This record gives sequence, C-alpha cells and structure tokens, in this order.
Amino acid sequence: MQPSTILITGGLGFIFSHVTEYFVAKGWRVIVIDNLSEGSHPEILNNTFTHYNYDVANYGVIELIQKENPDFVVHAAANSDVDHSIKNPQEIFQKNILGTLFVFEACRVIPNLKKFIYVSTDEVYGECEHRKREDEIIFPKNPYSCSKAAGSLLRMAYDNTYSNLKDKTAETRFCNVFGPRQDIRKIMPLIKKSIEEGHSIPLHCEGVGYREYLYVKNIPPVIELILKKGNRNYNLTLNDGFTVKGLVKKAEEITKGKVKTHPAHRPGMDLKYQMDNTRIKDLGWKPLYSFEEGLREYLCEK
Ligand SMILES: NC(=O)c1ccc[n+]([C@@H]2O[C@H](COP(=O)([O-])OP(=O)(O)OC[C@H]3O[C@@H](n4cnc5c(N)ncnc54)[C@H](O)[C@@H]3O)[C@@H](O)[C@H]2O)c1
Repeated sequence: MQPSTILITGGLGFIFSHVTEYFVAKGWRVIVIDNLSEGSHPEILNNTFTHYNYDVANYGVIELIQKENPDFVVHAAANSDVDHSIKNPQEIFQKNILGTLFVFEACRVIPNLKKFIYVSTDEVYGECEHRKREDEIIFPKNPYSCSKAAGSLLRMAYDNTYSNLKDKTAETRFCNVFGPRQDIRKIMPLIKKSIEEGHSIPLHCEGVGYREYLYVKNIPPVIELILKKGNRNYNLTLNDGFTVKGLVKKAEEITKGKVKTHPAHRPGMDLKYQMDNTRIKDLGWKPLYSFEEGLREYLCEK
C-alpha cells in the first residue's frame, strides 16, 4: 500500500506496538493515542511517530482525532484484563465502551477516511461449542468481553447509519495472541518464565480451558491487508488450539524444559473459544509464521 497517515489507539501496547513499528518502517505517518496505562511500552517511543498521551475515554479525543485527519484509524486501546474487569466492571465499561464510542464519533465526520478497524476478540462469542463464524450470534459472558461486544454493535450501527462510514469499517476478532512484549501475567509469558526461572503458574479450571493461539508478528501484515481491502468482521486465527495443559506440554517439548503449575479458579470463564477463519483466508491472508515457528522463536530466542 502507498504510505498514508494512520492513527492507532493503544499503539504502545503489546500487540499494537508491533503494528506501530511496522507502519513506521514502511514510511507511513503514524499517530498513536495511548495513555501509557497497563500493558504499554513507552520504551518504543521515539521521534519516528507522533504520540499523544491521552485517554480515549475522554471526550476531547474526538477533536484530537479530527484535527489529525488520518486516512486510516485502528482502534485497539482497551483494558483487556479479565480478572480486573470482574472486580471493577464499572471502570472497564466506562473506559472501553466510552473510548470506543468517542473514536467512532470522531471517525464519522473525518471527510476522507478510507478505513476504520475496531480491534476485538474471540471472547465476544462466549462459549464456542463449534468454530464460530462471523455471522453467528455474539454472547459475551464476562465484563471485559461484554465491553468489547458493545464495540462490535457500535461498529455495525455506525457503518449502517453514517454514509461517511458505509462499508469502510471492519472488526478483527483475535484469538489469543502471544509474543514479545506480552504482559507477564498472561499464560504464554508465565510458561516462558516458569521454564526459565522455575516459578509455578496458576492453572484455572484444572487447565482444561481451550484457546487458539497466534504469533504477534502475524498481526501487522494482516492489519494492512484489512485496511486495503477488508470490510465487516474477521476472525483472526490459524486454528492452533490447545487446552492450557496441552500448551504446557507443547512448550515443554519444544524447550525440553519443565513448567510448574498450581490449581486456581476464575469465575465467568468460558471453557472453549474457537473460530472459523474462512473469511480472512478468502481475503488473501498468508501468515508469516506458523504457530510452531512463532512458539519456537518466542520460547527459545533470548
Ligand atoms: N492480547 C490478546 O491476545 C488479545 C486477543 C484478542 C483481542 N485483543 C484486543 O487487542 C487490543 C490490544 O490488546 P493487547 O493485549 O495488546 O493490550 P495491552 O494491554 O498490551 O495494550 C493496550 C494499550 O492500550 C492503552 N490503553 C488502554 N486503555 C486506554 C485508554 N482508555 N486510552 C488510551 N490508551 C489506552 C494502554 O496504555 C496500552 O498501551 C485490545 O483491544 C484487546 O481487547 C487482544
């Protein structure tokens, strides 16, 4: 794609710091709105892109985005800590839903906006007894996933209602992403740390929770692909699914190391997320890394 102006909310976080750096490297003008909260990586800040230390749940963000007049907007800023959302649902709803609303409000009046991606999650489907397609009902079952599902509904409503956004919005529903810069409390960094330092990690529901996993370095090119020619919802997964127990075993096989575990409980936990990836494959997605290649690079390279 020709270099353009892209505005990324949450562009200092685990996943989108990689996206920020990808577009900077391609010569794009990159603007990041990120309030340096949990999960942020201020160490990547430098003068190759513009950063606003601003909360997207603050009304003033509408004017800020309009002033920058970007060609593309990717809205990824969110608090994605499920345990925190269970303890403080009001805070998560205010931050995640208001933040998303304000970004949509800004985008509906940017005159030359080419595409807007709302970043979401497989968790909006709730329990997945089969691989969910994008046109199936969403059924969020904890405050975090509910706050993300509210954004899914906003996307449909804004695309349907405002002519400036008609067929210019997309939503990405990621499975579990892993890789460099991920928060140490998530399962894959915990496994890595346990192998390297011998810490014991919590196994929720006896480790039977089943998730699909995707390496973070696959994300920037697929975001570019969707900006170029995508619309509506995309499940992003390569269907590499494991129970947590299975994932631990896989990590031990690859590293020849040992992972220590102890039992733990999480209320409101869905046992299985799995998604159909036909739509994104039909769009032409060719992932850079298989799961195995990503896991090997993540666990074995210092
Ligand atoms: N990590 C995953 O496996 C995964 C899976 C599915 C979906 N997602 C979604 O992808 C997005 C990024 O996830 P991540 O794991 O990289 O998160 P992260 O916590 O690592 O990063 C989030 C970033 O957003 C910023 N931020 C949070 N709230 C903000 C606010 N109100 N205003 C401005 N900035 C704010 C933080 O400072 C941080 O830099 C989120 O929308 C999340 O829901 C993540």
